[in-house]
Amino acid sequence: MATSERDTRGYSVLDADGHVELGPEHPGFADPDYRARRDEVAGLSIGWRPGMPVPRVAYTAAEDQVWATVWTELAPLLHHNAARCILDGMPRLALPEHRVPQLDEVSAALRPLTGFAYGVVPGLAELREFYGALADGLFLSTQYLRHPSVPLYTPEPDVIHEVVGHGLSLAVPELAELCRAMGRATRRVTEPKALEALSRIFWFSVEFGCVWEHGELRTYGAGILSSFGELSSFTHAEVCPIDLAAMATHRYDITRYQPLLFAGRSLTEVVDVVGGCFEEADDDHLLALVGASL
Ligand SMILES: [Fe+2]
Repeated sequence: MATSERDTRGYSVLDADGHVELGPEHPGFADPDYRARRDEVAGLSIGWRPGMPVPRVAYTAAEDQVWATVWTELAPLLHHNAARCILDGMPRLALPEHRVPQLDEVSAALRPLTGFAYGVVPGLAELREFYGALADGLFLSTQYLRHPSVPLYTPEPDVIHEVVGHGLSLAVPELAELCRAMGRATRRVTEPKALEALSRIFWFSVEFGCVWEHGELRTYGAGILSSFGELSSFTHAEVCPIDLAAMATHRYDITRYQPLLFAGRSLTEVVDVVGGCFEEADDDHLLALVGASL
């Protein structure tokens, strides 16, 4: 698992032989069957390129059960904590409740809504590749499931995070456009510090963003929408108004619940301020925004 704070994807890494590397803290570290399955699933997407068919995974009954368990726990929490735009999009995406959906199924539902589709990566996606693909309406995703011993926990983004978290958000036209703008910004910048600033703003918006709705904190962030723990606790975080300079420079820890969140007064404010930043962003703009903080 990538542990660098600079890597907001947090994905597992493949070693030189194509095996998935898991750290000793991973719930599946000492489970040879799980590790073999991770290698098998990762192997399906090695060599995939945009334009190629997305490989299908023959998910096992045990993997479908993990999905069903997580969905059963998340659904009521989503109802009470997801932003209105997310709840409005849920029936349009119509994710299955009892089995892991194939990515091409989810893409077929997303395309008529926002034009987005899923691509696949076997593990670590390089930041510039991952964010840049968003400009083309392409979301690069992994396909593996978390370890079944702890279905409500994963130390890395699995297909549940990719589909429940990002799928629900990519079904919302305003949020899909936010991601496209992030992709275009990524392709404009060349300075590593500028990409880091973009990445942190993405983290505090697309991954962990919130909005106030009728005096209640709601979330549109994929990292919260897909996490039982985050959904259960995010309202206890310190919540700040949207502040691009603070978002671009605040250090975060991907391994714990987020103690600081940024909330828009509305989705419109998120689109105007964060989306506006992504639309204007270039090296000069972003380096001026972060000053000497990064
Ligand atoms: Fe994510």
